[in-house]
Amino acid sequence: MGKLRLAVLASGRGTNLQALIDAIAAGELEAEIAVIISNRRDAQALERGRKHQIPLCFLDPREYIDSDAYDRALVAVWQEYKVDLVVLAGFMRLLGPEAVRAYRNRIVNIHPSLLPSFPGLNAQAQAVAYGVRYSGCTVHFVDEGMDTGPIILQAVVPVKEDDNPETLAARILKEEHRLYPRAIQLFAEGRLEVVGRRVRIKDK
Ligand code: GRF
Repeated sequence: MGKLRLAVLASGRGTNLQALIDAIAAGELEAEIAVIISNRRDAQALERGRKHQIPLCFLDPREYIDSDAYDRALVAVWQEYKVDLVVLAGFMRLLGPEAVRAYRNRIVNIHPSLLPSFPGLNAQAQAVAYGVRYSGCTVHFVDEGMDTGPIILQAVVPVKEDDNPETLAARILKEEHRLYPRAIQLFAEGRLEVVGRRVRIKDK
């Protein structure tokens, strides 16, 4: 079998994308990024991809009549690039049921909290406001809900008394950059098995 082919979807600065690029270069992640897709023309993630000569695809939401049509365009790109795994890395759109169904258990996301706590936007601010002592990040398969799919890996970070959303986000982000390549490498090794809500990690 060839290398695992990834589509990375990103809307913003793309530091998680960069962590994947770096992990691949370091030989820690046996995969290749077949295409980077963004819904924003000015996403820094596209710039990062350009530097590494990775194929880029900007899909402008304004050119589609509704989100179902947009999702179909996404799936078409995944198929065109023969993508094995779709990696959401700060992609600020919810995927609809059609896309999720077409790539069931082949779409992963990273979220900056210990799910199921604090799904949705501004997870780090939610954690600070709630007053939890620990937060972290979660890599999970994507299902039809918002940040609700089966959990692959999590990492825990402490919340300090003087944290604000930005300081906590920075601490979590460091862990995201370690966690995401690891989770995808497990997928690449064929070691993830989804059993209901739970993900079993098979021995090597
Ligand atoms: C990360 O915090 C990730 O957990 C969330 O969106 C942010 C993306 O950051 N889903 P970056 O674009 O990878 O720097």
